[in-house]
Amino acid sequence: MVKIAPSLLASDFTNIEAEIKRIEAAGADILHLDVMDGHFVPNLTFGIPIIKQIKNICSIPLDVHLMVTNPEDYIEDLAKIGVEYICIHQETVFHLHRQISVIKDFGIKAGVALNPATAIETIFPIIEQLDFVLIMSVNPGFGGQKFLPLVYDKIKKLQEYATTKNTNIEIEIDGGVNNTNAKLLEEAGADILVAGSYVFGNSNYKNQINSLK
Ligand code: DX5
Ligand code: ZN
Repeated sequence: MVKIAPSLLASDFTNIEAEIKRIEAAGADILHLDVMDGHFVPNLTFGIPIIKQIKNICSIPLDVHLMVTNPEDYIEDLAKIGVEYICIHQETVFHLHRQISVIKDFGIKAGVALNPATAIETIFPIIEQLDFVLIMSVNPGFGGQKFLPLVYDKIKKLQEYATTKNTNIEIEIDGGVNNTNAKLLEEAGADILVAGSYVFGNSNYKNQINSLK
């Protein structure tokens, strides 16, 4: 079954602990954390000190989505915190293979995130090195944007290529996920659905997560 990863970005930041407890109780599988630097994306969120505190109170795996121009500077600190997933944007690093190796050497699930305009084929040469691929279904930087259907074709191509390589890779979709596209995304081959505004946009988080599942 598809895993649901609510994005903390859409939560009430004046009550983060309560929000995390509620989202866990509602059946979230993973907590998605959007780190934005105001350079790679035109928005700022949070960084290492806050993720460290979140780890202390959160019992589900943490999935850190690094939307920063210098992701290499965050890996060691995130490893010390003990996060479970890290993805770095294909568009932000010169040496993707090297950076993915660094993440994997820490024993963390390593992924590459792709902007809508970045071709899925750009990660094919290193597919066997990856644990997951995060395919953006909006332009990164903000929650609450409209879903871009161009991801279906990317999921299909990735699935087909992974099959020819006999490699097991998780496919995560991020942006504009809701109860009208979740089923189609799962049928296309998505394994993890990130959902911010859809899950936090209604006070009954359990219903929202269940309706995605
Ligand atoms: C956008 C972030 C997403 C965002 C998703 O840059 O990567 O994780 O929080 O929010 P929704 O589900 O509202 O599009
Ligand atoms: Zn994200």
